Amino acid sequence: MTKYKIPVISGDGIGPEIIEEGKKVIDAASEIGGFEVEWISFPHGSDYYLETGELMSEDTLKELGKYRAIYLGALGDPRVKPGVVELGILLKLRFYFDQYINLRPIQLLDGTWTPLKDKKPEDIDFTVVRENTEDFYVGVGGRCKKGGGTDTLEIVRNMYSLKFGLDIQSDSEEIAYQIGVISREGATRVIKYAFELAKRKGKERVTSVDKANVLTHMYGFWREVFEDVSKDYPDIETEFNFVDAICMWMVKNPEWFKVIVTPNMFGDIITDLGAMIQGGLGVAPGGNINPKGTSMFEPIHGSAPKYKGMDKANPIATIWAGAMMLDVLGEEKASNYIELAIRQVLKEGKVRTYDLGGSSKTSEVGNEIAKKVKTLW
Ligand code: IPM
Ligand code: MN
Repeated sequence: MTKYKIPVISGDGIGPEIIEEGKKVIDAASEIGGFEVEWISFPHGSDYYLETGELMSEDTLKELGKYRAIYLGALGDPRVKPGVVELGILLKLRFYFDQYINLRPIQLLDGTWTPLKDKKPEDIDFTVVRENTEDFYVGVGGRCKKGGGTDTLEIVRNMYSLKFGLDIQSDSEEIAYQIGVISREGATRVIKYAFELAKRKGKERVTSVDKANVLTHMYGFWREVFEDVSKDYPDIETEFNFVDAICMWMVKNPEWFKVIVTPNMFGDIITDLGAMIQGGLGVAPGGNINPKGTSMFEPIHGSAPKYKGMDKANPIATIWAGAMMLDVLGEEKASNYIELAIRQVLKEGKVRTYDLGGSSKTSEVGNEIAKKVKTLW
């Protein structure tokens, strides 16, 4: 019997509660699917940081690197300054493991509600492939007061390393600058993944997002790479959308979209919009994928501190992320059955959390989906 060891970082706020349900559902699938899962808990998150001062040590990263997938709950706590755990844990993991694909399915499921008038589940069904390691997320920048100064900015990655030596002359009172980076290697691999995904799923079109009309350097380059990669896929239609325009089209004609590939920051923005049109953050999952390394799966929502410990939050995004994790691990059948069970439970509408108009508890939704996996199989 195949045995998977999966590290779990349940994290902050509602993280532990939703992860519990995700594990429960995967355990149920494993019982009949003929595989075994051993969960390995990691305490990292805001509490652990406040107690020990550790966000994510090199030793922990090395340990996590022994496994193919990490199951992540949520991060963020009002006691910790914004950005600390986000950068120190979440982005740290994404970058360290070079999880260059952020896969975010935008699917409206029967039984959830979209704010888009007259749109049905068949109208909202596409996948966003978000680049996950570059763009303005590389985190290089600084500030400079009147008179100027010098600065050295460095990025060290598996694929390349990069250093900017800045000689700043400025008579502004104070400036801040942030440098975005897109590399040919980085853009090529994620765009290729998007085309391969379209090919595998029989989708006729890949849409690229940019702002090449204004941020000409970085996103003009992205466009060029997209055009280069697309030449290998003559049967797939291509198009470019500016990021502002795609926000409009996602609301007006979501049915147009099949696979969207986007640089990191625009991907961050449009997937929150995507989550809303697919029935809310409670049902929006994501995968941070390195096909040859350690991937990580999480709901795209945050830690919702005010619902912590109330057994109230919707665990579906996390359960769905768990299904995506099984798919990447090679347990496609179990993955499909979990997705099917989610669909079925939502469609029946008897067990659902407050955000979907119900009054069921987090654990009741998990129990119901776990049970459904077993009856459907
Ligand atoms: C997301 C989140 C993160 C991001 C934050 C928490 C760093 O918004 O996963 O979309 O910007 O990528
Ligand atoms: Mn986001």
